[in-house]
Amino acid sequence: MPVVDDEVAEEIAALKRERRAVVLAHYYQDPEIQDVADFVGDSLQLSRQAAKTDALVICFAGVKFMAETAKMLSPDKKVVLPDLQAGCSLVDGCPPEAFRKWREKYADHVVVTYVNSSAEVKALSDYCCTSSNAEQVIRAIPEGKPIIFAPDRNLGAYLEKKTGRKLRLWQGTCMVHETFSERHLISLKHDHPQALVLAHPECEEALLRHADYIGSTAGILEFAKKSDRREFLIATEAGILYPMRLAAPGKTFIPVPTTTGCACNECPHMKKNTIEKVLAALRDLRPEIDLDPDLLRRARKPIDAMFEVCDGKVPHRGD
Ligand code: 13P
Ligand code: SF4
Repeated sequence: MPVVDDEVAEEIAALKRERRAVVLAHYYQDPEIQDVADFVGDSLQLSRQAAKTDALVICFAGVKFMAETAKMLSPDKKVVLPDLQAGCSLVDGCPPEAFRKWREKYADHVVVTYVNSSAEVKALSDYCCTSSNAEQVIRAIPEGKPIIFAPDRNLGAYLEKKTGRKLRLWQGTCMVHETFSERHLISLKHDHPQALVLAHPECEEALLRHADYIGSTAGILEFAKKSDRREFLIATEAGILYPMRLAAPGKTFIPVPTTTGCACNECPHMKKNTIEKVLAALRDLRPEIDLDPDLLRRARKPIDAMFEVCDGKVPHRGD
């Protein structure tokens, strides 16, 4: 059942028509934002939508690196982010100048960068990837070629295990996923022996070793929908619980607690966006994502390289 207030939903629908705008929302957004979105998805799905929409305006309800990626893929569109302060600890933990110096030390390495990075760091990379295609991107690089992976060390370590490739890892982490508690998870598994553990690869290895499925937010949602099990322990940001409960109303989704014991692990960046700010962004057409054209062109290259690996082509309108 949608939770958004009817009047607010109508106001947003009218603004969308007037502005020829679409609202793209990540699964970690508040339920009422997901309710008014034209499309809700993970990082990869959202970038595909951003590339192919024929709207004039994209209101991106997510964090800044996601809205920047949308701008790179649709440079002629106006891209607005409800709160420009919606950042990401992985972006903050990988400053472009430090990254440039580090990668210069390994000039013979292929550079694969998680989409959770700044435009400047992307511009210094050969391939971009998201949590849903990172394994495919790594496997596409010829054996024997040394690889740098940045900025998430947990996703990097997971990829090393999956692919058997040695990766040189930048030591960044997600402030949300690194706080899940293994101790609480073990106790939940004990209380719910039939439940499957579904985890995002940004979690620490201590958590991931208990997982029955590891994948992106969209992967976790799909897995739960298709599974014949009824109970799931969820180790990713709490926003995913709303679309999971909508998609599989008869199933039980239990959030894994953090080390403090709280079962409400929310990303403070994602949660900076509110339904009021979405409405204001559509009305005022700001705050707008503005990227220097040269930076945009350089940062888009590894994104195109990613799409060439995983789709065989770069997405564009009409796909
Ligand atoms: P997904 O691409 O899996 O949605 O992940 C985005 C993210 O920021 C996870 O913390
Ligand atoms: Fe960044 Fe973590 Fe928030 Fe995702 S959940 S946007 S990785 S801080």
